[in-house]
Amino acid sequence: MKIIYANDYQTMSRKAANILSAQVILNPKSVLGLATGSTPLGIYQQLIEWYRKGDIDFSQVKTVNLDEYCGLSPENEQSYFYYMYHNFFKHINIQLKNVHIPNGLETDKEKECRRYNYIIKSLGGIDLQLLGLGHNGHIGFNEPNEAFEKETHCVKLAEETIAANSRFFSSLDEVPTHAYTMGIKSIMQAKKILLIASGESKAEILYQALFGPISPQVPASILQLHNDLIVVADEGALSVIAQRYPHCIEQHPIK
Ligand code: F6R
Repeated sequence: MKIIYANDYQTMSRKAANILSAQVILNPKSVLGLATGSTPLGIYQQLIEWYRKGDIDFSQVKTVNLDEYCGLSPENEQSYFYYMYHNFFKHINIQLKNVHIPNGLETDKEKECRRYNYIIKSLGGIDLQLLGLGHNGHIGFNEPNEAFEKETHCVKLAEETIAANSRFFSSLDEVPTHAYTMGIKSIMQAKKILLIASGESKAEILYQALFGPISPQVPASILQLHNDLIVVADEGALSVIAQRYPHCIEQHPIK
């Protein structure tokens, strides 16, 4: 595990974007696992900027997103398809046929999970998986649970996840209660994982995820077992780790 320090959100975004960009430059046919949420927005903006400068070419890149709300169409402004399209895909030269997101409108859950697992396998797995971190330790929508769910599944979202995500909806009642998410096995099979975190509100859970016991109660803790995990986080998110394990943080300013 490599933990890279960034002094603020913008720097975190640039450093993480550099890793994604290097992946695409070294392998233009990369399969990228992508995430939504607030944290990756700066990364997508940075990658768009470098694309516009001619530094990155996405024409052969394939993507698989972690998750999608059940019941929302791609045109719904709160769907993750809408987020990905408007915040990233429409600004770069990726081919939409190479973009994969669970179909939130599919009501046959088993069929959709099977379809999505098949897509991930037929792409040959994920070269680099980008992950944000939920306040309860979720990755994708793998919520705290009694056991790790392995493959794509439909999950009932935790109350705190619904509350956290309600900031994007006009009322709490509008937040979908279920989502399709890639499972822990699919995430862990990615060749490389890039976990990003920003802000003090993530500091304790980032510490638990990276240095606490490995438990499905903190789904991100499983990442400790991945052999190519890179964490890029800003000062706020690293504040608890910086107190307890400062030597584990690369480029951390020793005070
Ligand atoms: C989104 C996703 C979620 C988020 C997590 C953190 O596709 O999979 O696990 O990464 O909820 O969200 P933010 O970045 O908004 O704090």
